[in-house]
Amino acid sequence: MADIVILNGPNLGRLGVREPDVYGTLSYDDLVASAQSWGSAHDLTVEVFQTDSESEMIGWLHAAVDEGADVVLNPAAFTHFSYAIRDAAAMVTKGGRHLIEVHISNPYAREEFRHHSVVGGIATGTIAGFGFHSYKLAIEALVHLRA
Ligand code: DQA
Repeated sequence: MADIVILNGPNLGRLGVREPDVYGTLSYDDLVASAQSWGSAHDLTVEVFQTDSESEMIGWLHAAVDEGADVVLNPAAFTHFSYAIRDAAAMVTKGGRHLIEVHISNPYAREEFRHHSVVGGIATGTIAGFGFHSYKLAIEALVHLRA
């Protein structure tokens, strides 16, 4: 596994098409390319995944734990209700690795149901509201934490 795995939850594969006023016009493939180049700039290998399935996401979190990778997690809508994702994400941080929760938009400035994250309490930290740049900031946070 890579040094850093970037895991993206439901509907993020539709970036560029989905609500461009909120998430921008760049595609998921653009995000993958940018994230890999941001990692390479720090000599870190980065793998990027996206799923609409809670089960698949949990499997990737388990793999990150087993392989000792740091995680950048955009749980998307799972953020707000999935205790199963929270419990799997908690294994990353309780196992001694870092997990940065990221959001492209600022959920706290949107509908009320987005104001609560069930993941935030077990994350190393949260970055939200900076578009794709949120992921760059998360990688930079990990560079700082791993130094
Ligand atoms: C999101 C914010 C969530 O509220 C939403 O469900 C998403 C994307 C973001 O990146 O801004 O799908 O995680």
